[in-house]
Amino acid sequence: MNLSLYYPRSSAFISGQIGLPHNHPKSWYHSLATGLAQRRNTPSGQSVKHTHMIKVEGLTKRYARNIAVKNISFEVGKGEIVGFLGKNGAGKTTTMRVLTCFLPPTAGKASVAGFDVLEQSLEVRKRIGYLPETPPLYPEMEIATYLTFVAKLKGIPAGDIAKRVDEVCERTSIADHKHTIIGKLSKGYRQRVGLAQAIIHNPPVLILDEPTSGLDPEQQREARQLIASLSGDHTIILSTHILSEVEQSCSKVIIINNGEIVASDTVANLHHRQRATESIRIEVSGAPAGQIKQRLEQVAGVASVESRDTREGLEAFEVHSLENHSVRPELARAIVQAGWNLNELRPVGESLEEIFLELTKSETSASKDKEQEVVAQ
Ligand SMILES: Nc1ncnc2c1ncn2[C@@H]1O[C@H](COP(=O)(O)OP(=O)(O)OP(=O)(O)O)[C@@H](O)[C@H]1O
Ligand SMILES: [Mg+2]
Repeated sequence: MNLSLYYPRSSAFISGQIGLPHNHPKSWYHSLATGLAQRRNTPSGQSVKHTHMIKVEGLTKRYARNIAVKNISFEVGKGEIVGFLGKNGAGKTTTMRVLTCFLPPTAGKASVAGFDVLEQSLEVRKRIGYLPETPPLYPEMEIATYLTFVAKLKGIPAGDIAKRVDEVCERTSIADHKHTIIGKLSKGYRQRVGLAQAIIHNPPVLILDEPTSGLDPEQQREARQLIASLSGDHTIILSTHILSEVEQSCSKVIIINNGEIVASDTVANLHHRQRATESIRIEVSGAPAGQIKQRLEQVAGVASVESRDTREGLEAFEVHSLENHSVRPELARAIVQAGWNLNELRPVGESLEEIFLELTKSETSASKDKEQEVVAQ
């Protein structure tokens, strides 16, 4: 195998990880493989205690005249899974590439496990498993040969490699295809091999750029389960365009728009964030839907009423209030006074999709202007 054929950035990445001999008692793999307490030991024996595994402060990345990431700051706690959301071109991959030391920041700082991505990139690289948008795979290699090759490059002791390759093949459900040539794999299976190479050295931090992209629904579910099983011991940032994935897999969401962070919170807090208007789900029986709707629309502070499903004589509606109006007591009173039965009345949180679209819509024209500016260059 001609090593010069190897994906150049990945080669640089991996070759940077061979800091100590594989069998060295203080090798990074040795400390990773022997547990959390020892994971805190650096190769030089220094103790590193950080509640924040990833810290980004005022990070800016500029490509020529195009600023892809503008002065963003965020922190990711140990064991957290953070979903990185944003439209195409928002700056997700760029941020991930800075965190994984593929790109230097233009301004600002980023650190992983307390190590600066610019000044201590070797230490950072040892602690990161990276699944890029396009996994760096050798199409002519068998899966097992490729993973063995990666394991060697990542400094896993020779005696542990076969066991570790078997383990990651099991975890990523590719054990039955270990001897298949990578070039013959479907996109979904290539993605699994990409995940396998990212976790093979059991790094404490995983940066996964659209890990479920191209997977069928069953494979997506398996990949999510795998990612969930890695949480706790691993700190994970994953980017995705699948909003339900964030709700299922992530403890925290960072929404990035046009290079800027527009939200950074838990999924639950985002659903119940303070809004000027409220939406209420209401179920009523005892009168025709049209009559109930008309009465609800007359309640002070109501902006609009939408009919929802009707079942077994129950009429359902979603009521939206005007800004800064709390309409729930008045709605209840109106229904009871009309002599109808009030079966349900509850505030409805916004869906993540609604939140995402709202937070990313205001910049749309600005993004278009920016794109035009870039095209014109
Ligand atoms: N190598 C590059 N040279 C110049 N501009 C770039 C380069 N890579 C990315 N960009 C620009 O930086 C901005 C952010 O791109 P980035 O790939 O980080 O977005 P993204 O959020 O990952 O998008 P997607 O969801 O499509 O993967 C875009 O405007 C993009 O065109
Ligand atoms: Mg991207």
